[in-house]
Amino acid sequence: MKTILIQLDTDPLPSTFDRVVAIDAGVDELFSYGGVTPEVVEGLVHGAMFTRKPTDLKNTAIFIGGSHVAAGETLLKAVTKSLFGPFKVSVMMDSNGSNTTAAATVLAAAKHLDLARTTAVVLGGTGPVGCRVAQLLLSQGATVRLASRSMERSKATCTMLTQTNEHASLIAHESQSESGLAAACEGVDLVVAAGAAKTRLISARQLAAISTLKLAIDLNAVAPAGIEGVEVMDKAREHLGHMVYGAIGVGGMKMKIHHAAIRNLFLANDRILDTAAIYELGKSVT
Ligand SMILES: NC(=O)c1ccc[n+]([C@@H]2O[C@H](COP(=O)([O-])OP(=O)(O)OC[C@H]3O[C@@H](n4cnc5c(N)ncnc54)[C@H](OP(=O)(O)O)[C@@H]3O)[C@@H](O)[C@H]2O)c1
Repeated sequence: MKTILIQLDTDPLPSTFDRVVAIDAGVDELFSYGGVTPEVVEGLVHGAMFTRKPTDLKNTAIFIGGSHVAAGETLLKAVTKSLFGPFKVSVMMDSNGSNTTAAATVLAAAKHLDLARTTAVVLGGTGPVGCRVAQLLLSQGATVRLASRSMERSKATCTMLTQTNEHASLIAHESQSESGLAAACEGVDLVVAAGAAKTRLISARQLAAISTLKLAIDLNAVAPAGIEGVEVMDKAREHLGHMVYGAIGVGGMKMKIHHAAIRNLFLANDRILDTAAIYELGKSVT
């Protein structure tokens, strides 16, 4: 039986990136819908559920994407609400690459650090990628400082993250001021820069001042680098006494995880591949 992936994209035009990955991951048929809102999701999901026998439904799956991560999350809730009984299909959510990127980042960090003994700072931690990086680091037992230009936004993101992990060792930091950034970074093993594209979050001088630093990961691919001195292609490069990764260095792993997650959707009809599930799946990707 042919595998069918139903791409529900919150943007007007379904992402070509997600379409190419789906085909490269081996999907036989790809149905792509753009401008999808929660109001229209039920009909699309039921069309996928009631057309094949429950035992055949593992050959049908749903992918949720689009550039607005919050809209994707809302769509995921609407999709899972529409599934019931044995009439289920597996679902993956990766709006703006947020889940696969965060998983690849934390898996890269886990190659070099014992995360349960790691203190990390996530700069730009209020964004969809940064807050997922923080979520995954916390799930692995790390102590996390979540930094933002605004203490208010940082606190709000920390409150959201502790709702799902009440034992989280998580502290909000303001990183706009020189002293705020220094306090956020003092004594950390790991720096992740997850700021918006084209934004420098930490200078080479500020990074060099972190005497405990073992690993720095910059996810911004568009110059200037989020971490001064880190190149986009860096992948486990030794740099001034610590290891560095750039956005493309992490991106190779991100692509592998994305492919593996699409293939995984077709192994059962009840998988929900969200942040945590994509990270777990990424552990088996080398
Ligand atoms: N390598 C990959 O495969 C891959 C895949 C997807 C995304 N990415 C990259 O990962 C990074 C994070 O993605 P995202 O979607 O989470 O980013 P985002 O939402 O655009 O921005 C993340 C955070 O950056 C901060 N920020 C925004 N403008 C800033 C400015 N001018 N100066 C300093 N900070 C600023 C904001 O935090 P505050 O306002 O709270 O300070 C924001 O919440 C981006 O650089 C993106 O391009 C890489």
